[in-house]
Amino acid sequence: MTNASSITKAVIPAAGLGTRFLPATKAMPKEMLPVVDKPAIQYVVAEAVKAGFTDLLMITGRNKRALEDHFDRVPSLEGSLEAKGDDEKLEAIREATRLGDIHYVRQGDPRGLGHAVLCAKKHVGHEPFAVLLGDDLIDERDELLSVMAAVQLKTGGSVIALMEVEPEQISAYGCANVVAVEGGDFVKVLGLVEKPAVEDAPSNLAVIGRYLLHPRVFEVLEHTAPGRGNEIQLTDALQELAAAEGDGAGVHAVVFRGRRYDTGDKLSYLQANITLAVDHEDLGPGLKSWLKDFVADLDD
Ligand code: UTP
Repeated sequence: MTNASSITKAVIPAAGLGTRFLPATKAMPKEMLPVVDKPAIQYVVAEAVKAGFTDLLMITGRNKRALEDHFDRVPSLEGSLEAKGDDEKLEAIREATRLGDIHYVRQGDPRGLGHAVLCAKKHVGHEPFAVLLGDDLIDERDELLSVMAAVQLKTGGSVIALMEVEPEQISAYGCANVVAVEGGDFVKVLGLVEKPAVEDAPSNLAVIGRYLLHPRVFEVLEHTAPGRGNEIQLTDALQELAAAEGDGAGVHAVVFRGRRYDTGDKLSYLQANITLAVDHEDLGPGLKSWLKDFVADLDD
């Protein structure tokens, strides 16, 4: 489904250090970790393309060359699969290269998500744009970006995505203080705080990795001081926009109730693999019957 707004540009930050997934991410970007049979980043790029964004900019950094290579063609590999007549594998490797034109910019130092988004300023210019975090997967069976685009069209400003989490989990996320919008299936954001202590959290609504941002965010990010973890936080810039007035101010949010996986987190990564693999055409039947036996043994 294409999005209802006229947003064409999507930024995909993928320059983080991935420390939660060490040692797997010591020499390999976490966005390249396979989820079933494709790297996590491929799902994110496919989601952006499906949502109608035609101009993709990936923010990468040191150790991230594999990301660019994955979306590039490998004529020698294609040639050898062609010679063998292995059309299925040929199609599988070409899928990633056909997703569209991806531009790349490097974030010299991973100084935080806000700083990564600021690296997109020149490319994006003065139009609203989408941000999809490279390690955050939204199940393709659930709609999110198109719903956010419809809200952005109605409200202007910026739109973020929230998800209810268990209260004790909120300190791993940005957290939003919101009010209902009369007659709307979305909410208005009054305030945002990055990774609050449980007792300070204004709600159990966690910010997840999809954003539609007004370009005014760049102005704000330019003066946003390092915050939590000494990183320039996108949450802090959005907090300022939520409280600001005038053109490009205001933040609204869609509360997502579908399936979402944080592949930068070990447990959520394992859950993503199992949830997606049980519905996989080839792997599903075998995995399901093995899982049933495995779980029955666990109960014993
Ligand atoms: P995370 O906070 O999950 O990434 O950022 P991280 O810093 O790699 O994670 P840990 O805590 O060390 O495991 C969310 C997204 O923003 C990107 C990451 O690559 C990820 O896709 N990011 C984060 C950047 O591009 N640059 C940064 O400076 C920080």
